[in-house]
Amino acid sequence: MAFTVVGFIGLCSLLLGYGVHVEASHRVFSNLQSHQNTTATHQPYRTGYHFQPAKNWINDPNGPMIYKDIYHLFYQYNPYGAVWGNIVWAHATSTDLVNWVHHEVAIKPSIDSDINGCWSGSATILSGEKPAILYTGGDPQNRQVQNLALPKNLSDEFLREWIKPPRNPVMTPIDGINASSFRDPTTAWKGLDGRWRVIIGSQIDRQGKAILYRSKDFIHWVRAQHPLHSSNNTGMWECPDFFRVSVNSTVGLDTSLNGPSVKHVLKVSLGETQHDCYTIGTYDLKKDMYIPDNGSIDNGFGLRFDYGKFYASKTFFDSSKNRRILWGWINESDSEQDDIKKGWSGIHAIPRNLWLDKTGKQLVQWPIQEIKMLREKPVDWQSTEMKPGSVSEVLDVTAAQVDVEILLDLPTLEKAENMDPSWVDPQLLCSEKGASVKGSLGPFGLLALASKGLKEQTAIFFRVFKDQERYVVLMCSDQSRSSLRQDLDKTTYGAFLDVDPLHEGLSLRSLIDHSIVESFGGNGKACIIARVYPELAINDNAHLYVFNNGTENVMLSKLSAWSMKKAQIIY
Ligand code: FRU
Repeated sequence: MAFTVVGFIGLCSLLLGYGVHVEASHRVFSNLQSHQNTTATHQPYRTGYHFQPAKNWINDPNGPMIYKDIYHLFYQYNPYGAVWGNIVWAHATSTDLVNWVHHEVAIKPSIDSDINGCWSGSATILSGEKPAILYTGGDPQNRQVQNLALPKNLSDEFLREWIKPPRNPVMTPIDGINASSFRDPTTAWKGLDGRWRVIIGSQIDRQGKAILYRSKDFIHWVRAQHPLHSSNNTGMWECPDFFRVSVNSTVGLDTSLNGPSVKHVLKVSLGETQHDCYTIGTYDLKKDMYIPDNGSIDNGFGLRFDYGKFYASKTFFDSSKNRRILWGWINESDSEQDDIKKGWSGIHAIPRNLWLDKTGKQLVQWPIQEIKMLREKPVDWQSTEMKPGSVSEVLDVTAAQVDVEILLDLPTLEKAENMDPSWVDPQLLCSEKGASVKGSLGPFGLLALASKGLKEQTAIFFRVFKDQERYVVLMCSDQSRSSLRQDLDKTTYGAFLDVDPLHEGLSLRSLIDHSIVESFGGNGKACIIARVYPELAINDNAHLYVFNNGTENVMLSKLSAWSMKKAQIIY
């Protein structure tokens, strides 16, 4: 099929009508946005327990919330095709975050201030238990403006219909705000003066900004003189998220709660790199400013929620279980032509519970406990020694749809290779030292979605290096042999893992689901999502292995694996 590509990866800028630029960090194929293909019947890459609609394009999770014991998830959706465009807020609800029922589209272009698209935003529960949504609309001049939507009928437990009060838009890009970089309002929080606050992602001359607004009534919003935070040379800050975490417990906190044992997290989705980066810091309530802690880097090279494919994420406070939950979007690794053939593009990651690590220096993330309801047919291995060069198959699991946890112990670290001071970029290091490159302590870990004979495999593994008196643990997800197909993004991902390999061992959990491998290293201290499209290792022809390609023995102290049932997703 021949078509013209008018977009490109990274910040995409289109000149539409009225001479105003529209920018979004999506590839834009204007001629394919409403191109409905007959959905292919051979669908080896659709997932069994990840969130996805029946067909078409999806991107960011929007406005996640719990209201009267029902979880709501809205998401950016193209009702007419498998590439980005025609964006509306689609809607699904759940009572367990695993099984979902899709409803009618909740918010679609209908007023001047969203006529060119209903882009990302967030939900806030106002006093009197009334949910409210702030979202970005594209106005007739293609300026980005912020709109308010309210449930039409609070007694409908599914909140299926949303109305847009006549005062919309409630925020417009005046006073020097860049009209094409002004989007994605956060969940609002209350300050000491009882007024609501919200931040909007923006940039000016590549200085990323979280523009701050205040309001007494959620309708009239006044821009603060200064942003909540900004950082040079980071480009557009999409989908900011600002929330509190407890310093001494794993419980989640309401967005408006303040107190002495609280730290703050600011996450921004960097349009240029498509990375979700966060810092931990302090929110100065009097100055209404956020200051990252010393050492918490806000230049785009600091901490990330996930070191693989994971973008435009958003958290919410689950008041029913006192936890903070993170949702993220995962895009495809194949081409738009492939997506059109498949009839769909994009899935959401398994929701993660998230809290502050004991060190106070990073967050920890773990799949929500409810996902365990899909586990069946447990397989347990007790201590097994993994000799250099060993590859052992984990039998009796449906390896294309499985949840697996391993714990690796290293009898001695004496033989660890020395860390080279130039190895500062873990992703680069992982791509230079992939799963087939022998080391001494590592590579060892899992081979997921592997074909018999291992021509195809996605390797998730560790290596341990010695850096003077301490040990450095590298976690990698190597997609270079994930498929015989050549036309795919097979980037290898990596992260340094802040664990003590001698005393804690090295733990790894992977949620494997046909075309996705979501891995959690060190009990959730580093997460890496890989999106892969094997040709051989599909369905019953997928296998799971543990391997040790280092020169030293490794103890596999524990392995537990469960075949995963399908989640019920009703369209
Ligand atoms: C992030 C993003 C947001 C925007 C939305 C449009 O993926 O570009 O900034 O609101 O997607 O779909």
